[in-house]
Amino acid sequence: MSSADPATTASSGRPRRFAATGPLKGRIRVPGDKSISHRSIMLGALAVGETRVTGLLEGEDVLSTAAAMRAMGASITREADGTWSIHGVGVGGLLQPQQALDMGNSGTSTRLLMGLVASHAITASFIGDASLSKRPMGRVIEPLSLMGADFTASPGARGSQTLPLMMRGAAPAVPIAYRLPVASAQVKSAILLAGLNTPGITTVIEPVPTRDHSERMLKGFGAELEVEVEPDGTRVIRVRGEAEFRPQQIVVPGDPSSAAFFVVAGLLVPGSDLVIENVGLNPTRAALFDVLRQMGGQIDELDRREVGGEPVADLHVRHSALTGIAVDPAVVPSMVDEFPVLFVAAALARGRTVTTGLEELRVKESDRISAMRAALELAGATVTETADGLIIDGTGGDPLPGTPEGAAVTTHLDHRIAMSMAVAGLASRAGVEVDDTRPIATSFPVFESLLDGLADT
Ligand code: S3P
Repeated sequence: MSSADPATTASSGRPRRFAATGPLKGRIRVPGDKSISHRSIMLGALAVGETRVTGLLEGEDVLSTAAAMRAMGASITREADGTWSIHGVGVGGLLQPQQALDMGNSGTSTRLLMGLVASHAITASFIGDASLSKRPMGRVIEPLSLMGADFTASPGARGSQTLPLMMRGAAPAVPIAYRLPVASAQVKSAILLAGLNTPGITTVIEPVPTRDHSERMLKGFGAELEVEVEPDGTRVIRVRGEAEFRPQQIVVPGDPSSAAFFVVAGLLVPGSDLVIENVGLNPTRAALFDVLRQMGGQIDELDRREVGGEPVADLHVRHSALTGIAVDPAVVPSMVDEFPVLFVAAALARGRTVTTGLEELRVKESDRISAMRAALELAGATVTETADGLIIDGTGGDPLPGTPEGAAVTTHLDHRIAMSMAVAGLASRAGVEVDDTRPIATSFPVFESLLDGLADT
């Protein structure tokens, strides 16, 4: 998304009504993992020599990362066959950008790049769209300040620090040992990336494990990084600074967070039988599939293999009768982006689904607890909002009524609200009207064409 004026954004959305199409059948392949795509561009930009990336997600968020890395000196090109070629500047070699870094809608680009800039003698300003400009940046400003970086951020709601912000990196930066106060892979990664150009050892203590793509890929590029797991499960991650990176050949596996929409659609729409190929199943990401199986979902893994150092399988999904459950809050970090679509599955399950421990959902691209409560209610579901989750009483498999004539679900510039409610539309009587489908392009530009293709077969 570009950083358009919020008023313009609201009035020029691209609405669409998603309606029942009959069974979803066939095979689809989901695009590359967003988290891994961001990291492959950032780390490739720090290696001297050519890093080649296949399967990169060409969504707007990742393109924001690529543009920012180009503005700081890397050469990044896409070849005709879809391979991306990156010539990096070397660890510590990032250049002063000449313009504000426009992060669009992407929190991952923003927080990870703030980490990279924090240990360079660079002054950079970060701007973003109306959604990103509301999101809290204090969680990275605090540790990066301890490392010596200096920030001027905009004041946000409830005392938070937000974009637009200006930062000055420290050279040399100071290594820190930092215990994460929130379970956030973005905060962890920001500190580890800052540590790459910091003398000595930077340590992140992670009481609750979050996605570990940064750790895996940093090791692949040759960083000295070790992870110690304490008896209570706390992970202590140490990275030695002033690393020298070797360029890599990276194959990006398919994004489980994108596959999630088709998995839930296949479970909910009667008669569906589909295979979703190339789905990344890193255990720090894949809890949704386990939760759906606990609810009765038929999801089989075919041809389990490794792609780019990550476990991958094709998922065979068949229409299933789902039953509501209490979702264990311990799994939240490993499916943090999948709750909006889980709520849709719960809305059609038999009985009650209770989710707790979801405070972090309130500071994603939108407040996903209240946005999904409002969206599902408009579509006729029975939902109660609590401080840290939703309680949903499902229909027992009957389709949702759908949104009333003349009313549309508000997506709040949040791709996952738009796609989740598209799935709800497939399992509704009257269809679900979504006010703006443009945010889908941030993470899953081919979502609508894949959906339309499956419905046609
Ligand atoms: C991401 C981490 C998660 C997730 C986001 C991508 C990443 O955010 O919600 O979509 O690539 O590190 P938090 O780590 O802030 O929970």
